[in-house]
Amino acid sequence: MSKRKILVTSALPYANGEIHLGHLLEYIQTDIWVRYQKMMGNECHYVCADDAHGTPIMLKADELGIDPERLIASVSERHQADFNDFAINFSQYHSTHSEENREVSEGIYHKLNDGGFIKKRVISQAFDPEKKMFLPDRFIKGDCPKCGAADQYGDNCESCGATYSTTELKNAKSVVSGASPITKESEHYFFDLPQFEDRLKKWTNAGHLQPEISNKLSEWFEQGLQQWDISRDAPYFGFQIPDVKDKYFYVWLDAPIGYMGSFRKLCNDTGIDFDEYFNKDSKTEMYHFIGKDIVYFHALFWPAILMGSNYRTPNAVYAHGFLTVNGQKMSKSRGTFIQARTYLNYLNPEYLRYYYAYKLTSKIDDIDLNLEDFKQRVNSDLVGKVVNIASRSAGFIVKNYESTLSENSIESDLYSSFADKGKEIAEMYESRNYNQAMREIMKLADKANQYIDEHKPWKLIKEEGKDVMVHEVTSLAINLFRILMTYLKPVLPVMSSAAEEFLNIDELTWDAIKQPLSNHKINKFKPMMTRIEDDQINKVIEFSRDNINNTNNDNETKEDSMIQIEDFSKIDLRIAKIVKAQSVDGADKLIQLTLDIGEESTRNVFAGIKEHYSPEDLEGRLTVLVANLAPRKMRFGVSEGMVLAASDGKSIHLLSTDSDANPGMKIR
Ligand code: 2FM
Ligand code: ZN
Repeated sequence: MSKRKILVTSALPYANGEIHLGHLLEYIQTDIWVRYQKMMGNECHYVCADDAHGTPIMLKADELGIDPERLIASVSERHQADFNDFAINFSQYHSTHSEENREVSEGIYHKLNDGGFIKKRVISQAFDPEKKMFLPDRFIKGDCPKCGAADQYGDNCESCGATYSTTELKNAKSVVSGASPITKESEHYFFDLPQFEDRLKKWTNAGHLQPEISNKLSEWFEQGLQQWDISRDAPYFGFQIPDVKDKYFYVWLDAPIGYMGSFRKLCNDTGIDFDEYFNKDSKTEMYHFIGKDIVYFHALFWPAILMGSNYRTPNAVYAHGFLTVNGQKMSKSRGTFIQARTYLNYLNPEYLRYYYAYKLTSKIDDIDLNLEDFKQRVNSDLVGKVVNIASRSAGFIVKNYESTLSENSIESDLYSSFADKGKEIAEMYESRNYNQAMREIMKLADKANQYIDEHKPWKLIKEEGKDVMVHEVTSLAINLFRILMTYLKPVLPVMSSAAEEFLNIDELTWDAIKQPLSNHKINKFKPMMTRIEDDQINKVIEFSRDNINNTNNDNETKEDSMIQIEDFSKIDLRIAKIVKAQSVDGADKLIQLTLDIGEESTRNVFAGIKEHYSPEDLEGRLTVLVANLAPRKMRFGVSEGMVLAASDGKSIHLLSTDSDANPGMKIR
C-alpha cells in the first residue's frame, strides 16, 4: 500500500492554565495514534498550539500586571515542557498568537466576506461601566432569577440548573470590577452558518463523525442553525478584524484556524507543501482529536468555515469523553485535580500512557482513572507480565551463552502465533480501540510467561544435557518480548527505546517482527520499569490538595511559584498599630481594624479573624500590614491592605512584633 499523508491535531489548550491529567487523556490518545501511523510507514504530522487569545487571558495578564504576550510566552514554555516529559511528540507546537495564524485567519476572513458569508448587525450586551469593556457571561455574577442562589454565573445556575440571560440575573455584578453592568449596543460580525445547512447535513452524515456525535448533530439541526458572532469589541487580546477599528476576531474563530497556522509554520520550516494538505481536492488526510464538549465548534463551525473559504474539510473528527478520577469529577479539595507537573514529580509518565491506552476506546464514554486500579494494572501488566519475560530470561543468555541468542528453533509455532497477531493489533490502533489492543497484548504476555513457567529454565539449567534447551527457551522468550514491545511502542516509546538498547537493535518495527532475532548479541538487562508504590500516589494527591492554598494562582505548582528577591521587594510590609478594632454588622468573621502606620491618616482594614480574637483584645497591639495591596471594595467598605496572620485552617495567629517597634517601620 502506498504511504498515506496525514495531518493530525489535538485541541489547543488555553494559555492561561496548566496542563492537567484531563488534558493529557487527549494528547496521549492522539500521540499514540500518530506514533502508530509513523510505525506503519505513513507520513504523519501532528500539530498543536497554545490557544492564546480571549478575555480570560487578557484579564489574567492584567491581574498579574504583565502584557498578555509575556503571560502566553511563559505558559507556552511550561506547556511544552509538560508535553515533552509525557513523550507527546508534536511535529509543531505553535501559538494562535503568531504571524502564521494571523495570515491564515485574515485570508479566511476575506474569503468568507467575499463569499457573502459575513453579516453585520447591532446587538446589545452587558457592559462594565468601570472597566469599560463588554462582559462575557462568565464575567458576570449575581443571584439566580429562578431559585435565588447567590454568586451564580451570568448564563446558568449551578444550584438549580436554570439557564437564563444575563439581564435576568438579580444583583448582577461584573466579576472584573464589581460594578453593576449596564446594557450597551455595538455592531458585531456574524458568520452566516445557516447558509451551510445543506452541505453540513451531508457532511455530518458521511462517516466523518462517530455515530453518537452524528445523532447529537441531528438534534442541533432540528433546533436550527444560528448565525455565529465572530467579533469582539476592544479591549480584547486577539487579532484585529482587517480594516475595522477596535474590533477583534472572537478567540473561537482563530483557534481552529490555529491548526492551519501551526501547520503553516511547520511547512515554512521544513518545506512540506501546505497547499497539498489544504487545497480543496487534497488527497491527504486530516483528523482532529477533541473532547466531546467542543463538538459544535469542530463538527459545524469548522467544516463550514473551511467550505466557505474553499479549503478541504477534515476526514474525521474524533471526540473522546471526559476524565474522572476515582469515579468523580476531578476535584481540588480531594486532591484529584492533578497537574501534569505534579504527576511527573512522583510518577513515570508511561504508567499513565499505558493506563489511558488500557481504558481508551473509539467511543465518547468518560474514562475513569481509578488510582488503585491504575497502580494494580500497571504493576501487574507492565512490570509483572511484560518486563518479567525479559528479566527472567536475559540472565541466562548473558551468563551462559555469551549474551547471544540461539539460532535454533526460534521460528516456533508460538513465535508465529505472536507475530500473526500484528495485523489485528494494528487495526485496533487504527480504529482507536486501544483498550482491545492492550488486552490482546497482555493475553500474549500471559502466554509468554506460561511458556517460561512450563519449561522452567532455572531448573533445566541444573540438569545434565539441557543446556541447548535452556538456550532455546530463553532465546524464544526474549524474542516474544521483542514482539510485545513492538506492539506496545506507540504507547510506551521510552520503555521501547530501553528495550531497543537491551535487544541491541536499531528500532523495533512492525515489519521486522516477521524475522526473529537469532544468533544475535544482546545487552545486559536493566530494569525498564519499576512498580508503582502507594506512597508515590499519595504524594501526588497530597501535593495537589496542598497546592490549592499555595498561591492565589492555583494554576502554578509549588516549584513554579518560586519568586525572586525583586518580586519580594515589591511587597511593602509595615509595622502597624491597631488603634481601633470593632465588629462588623452582618459579617461573623470580620473585624474592622483602624491602623496607624505612621502616615498622616490611618488605614481601614477588614480582617477575617473574628472567630479567634475579640476586638477589645486587639487594640494597642502591633502587627504587620501589607501596605501596598490594592484597595479592595467589600460589602462593608474599602479594605486598604491586609494584616498578616498564620493559620493552619483551624486557628489563627496574628503576627506580632517587639513592643518598641514604631508604627510605619518598613520590614526588610
Ligand atoms: O476548549 C478549549 O480548551 C479550547 N482552547 C480548544 C480549542 S481547539 C481548537 F479549535 F483550536
Ligand atoms: Zn438557581
